[in-house]
Amino acid sequence: MFVEEGNKYLIGNYARYPVSFERGEGVFLYDTEGKRYIDMLAGIAVNTLGYNHPILTEAICEQAKKVLHVSNLFYIKPQIEVAKILVENSCGDKVFFCNSGAEANEAAIKLARRYFFDKKEDRYEIITFEGGFHGRTMATVKATAQPKYQEGFEPLPEGFKYAKLNDIESVKSVINEHTAAVMIELIQGEGGVIPAEEGFIRELFSLCKEKNILFIVDEVQTGIGRTGKLFAYEYFNIEPDIITLAKGLGGGVPIGAVIAKEEIAKSFVPGTHGSTFGGNYLATTAAKVVLNEVLKDGFLEGVQKKGEYLKKKLKEIGLNPRGKGLMIGCPLPEDKKASDIAAKALKEGLIVGTAGGNTLRFVPPLIIKEEEIDEAANLLKKILD
Ligand SMILES: Cc1ncc(COP(=O)(O)O)c(C=O)c1O
Repeated sequence: MFVEEGNKYLIGNYARYPVSFERGEGVFLYDTEGKRYIDMLAGIAVNTLGYNHPILTEAICEQAKKVLHVSNLFYIKPQIEVAKILVENSCGDKVFFCNSGAEANEAAIKLARRYFFDKKEDRYEIITFEGGFHGRTMATVKATAQPKYQEGFEPLPEGFKYAKLNDIESVKSVINEHTAAVMIELIQGEGGVIPAEEGFIRELFSLCKEKNILFIVDEVQTGIGRTGKLFAYEYFNIEPDIITLAKGLGGGVPIGAVIAKEEIAKSFVPGTHGSTFGGNYLATTAAKVVLNEVLKDGFLEGVQKKGEYLKKKLKEIGLNPRGKGLMIGCPLPEDKKASDIAAKALKEGLIVGTAGGNTLRFVPPLIIKEEEIDEAANLLKKILD
């Protein structure tokens, strides 16, 4: 029923599975027939605290009884509280809120350009990396250096150059007097869960500092504890100028954010940028709960441990995991299609994701337990056999 009606009324831009979920509890989802699924995808790295988390659900319900939205013409208490938590736990100084990852990256691109405009420097180009993914707006599609996302949408905005991940010479070859920033995912998510090398990131960061180029990390997927640190950049001993966030920040409520250093943030004066919904009561109430939970003693260490455990289990069933924390990808041999495996898994009550390069992707809720990882691994073994 929902399949026919869905196909009749919805624009067909998603390849959907013929399944609809009615409710969730912890890491489990239940479909309209009551069938239970173990969820290793978490709404594509979104549902940080799983489903029906008591504190998150309660906070959202309580907030809904008071006020959901007022606009950014006014000060919004939970928005300020979330900004404070983000600033106190990052290398940044100021926060802008929006509603999605693409919007966060779009804002970061605008901020980088505006910063150099204010400095009266003719710098506007952003360097991004092949295989990366930054969103679906016109500028972020252009920032996404993959032809399949761009085809048919030209002309796209100008001012982007592409380099190869883990290849510092390729970055040097595209830097010129107009370079404003590099924008990079520290682990490419959609591209296939491909980690940037530590040496490369450190060299890239030094190069940016030396040439006064802004360093933007797209932590839309890696952020908010996903890799076992609050932000993935903490693994590299660097201080990005701009950090973009979305996905896991709201635990399922749409929200995006840009954290920037004071000097750069100053360029967004009234009138330069904005968002009607950005950081409203509903979204920031959710984000506050998510951050407070993720920052509780031992939570992030737990993510690291569970990530190692999941990797071990995946190795035991013959897979070749890569990634950090609970952001893990397993490239598959050519004779096994990741999309076929994911479809079969779904029939068996296991939700896994796919990513570029024929990769299975595991980004479960961060509250997953070891015995739930066992259950997922056992199901996957059955499917792969
Ligand atoms: C690294 C990264 N940046 C940006 C985006 C775009 O986020 P959104 O879909 O919320 O616009 C994504 C989404 O997958 C992402 O993984």
